[in-house]
Amino acid sequence: MATIISLLNHKGGVGKTTSSIGIGAGLVKLGKKVLLMDLDPQANLTLSLGVPRMKVTIYEALKGESELMPHTAKENLDVIPSTLDLSGAEMELINEAGREYILREVLEPLLEEYDYIIIDCPPSLGLLTLNSLTSSNYVIIPLQAQFLALQGLAKIQQVVRKVKVRLNKKLEIIGVVPTMYDGRKVLNREVVQTIKKYFGKKVFETKIRDNVALAEAPADRKDIFEYSPNSKGAQDYLALCKEIIERVENKK
Ligand SMILES: Nc1ncnc2c1ncn2[C@@H]1O[C@H](COP(=O)(O)OP(=O)(O)O)[C@@H](O)[C@H]1O
Ligand SMILES: [Mg+2]
Repeated sequence: MATIISLLNHKGGVGKTTSSIGIGAGLVKLGKKVLLMDLDPQANLTLSLGVPRMKVTIYEALKGESELMPHTAKENLDVIPSTLDLSGAEMELINEAGREYILREVLEPLLEEYDYIIIDCPPSLGLLTLNSLTSSNYVIIPLQAQFLALQGLAKIQQVVRKVKVRLNKKLEIIGVVPTMYDGRKVLNREVVQTIKKYFGKKVFETKIRDNVALAEAPADRKDIFEYSPNSKGAQDYLALCKEIIERVENKK
């Protein structure tokens, strides 16, 4: 039975997509079978991994027009691509009965096939994100180790809490991960201290360092382990994945 994790932060540019790919590919390195789901209409994850244009994206599946059809990016790593059409889905699905549970329903037939399903959420807290949260066991919040990182966090926590109470009792924030971290910068260190004050043990030991290979890999349509296996980015996401597995196993 797959463990489903949403990468959540309604701010753009904080490292959700980079982390979804890094975590997905890292989990594969550690022997897991993984499905990456691109739930962002901007389709950055889809483009970053070079998924060819497909007839069935997450959009057709949510509309009830087709079953989900994962694309195999490499051994043990499948992807459900997104498309710009998905931006209309929120409006189109708003009057559906059980509209918060559509994703959960379409994922159901795939649950036995994977160890982990990682969902790259859009930078908003709308219906798509809500669907992601009702489908998930856990949330990981990537936070850019920079000024204003904490701004808006109360809102994220409030949404997770409401979903937990009303729609999905098992939902839990499993961890917060600082991204684009540069230990030479006082500001970065201070922000991580503040994040720790706020989230305590929820903050992962691993920080994802600022690493140009992580920014370059998408242009080559590769994950970080293929693009630059010895980079800091690869090291950090592998370390993060070990922590994730440990936390998930401890909850079972
Ligand atoms: N650790 C990192 N080091 C350097 N660049 C990064 C890192 N993480 C993300 N980036 C870059 O920052 C930008 C935003 O990251 P992205 O993952 O797309 O954020 P989001 O999905 O939250 O919008 C991208 O250009 C990405 O390549
Ligand atoms: Mg993104």
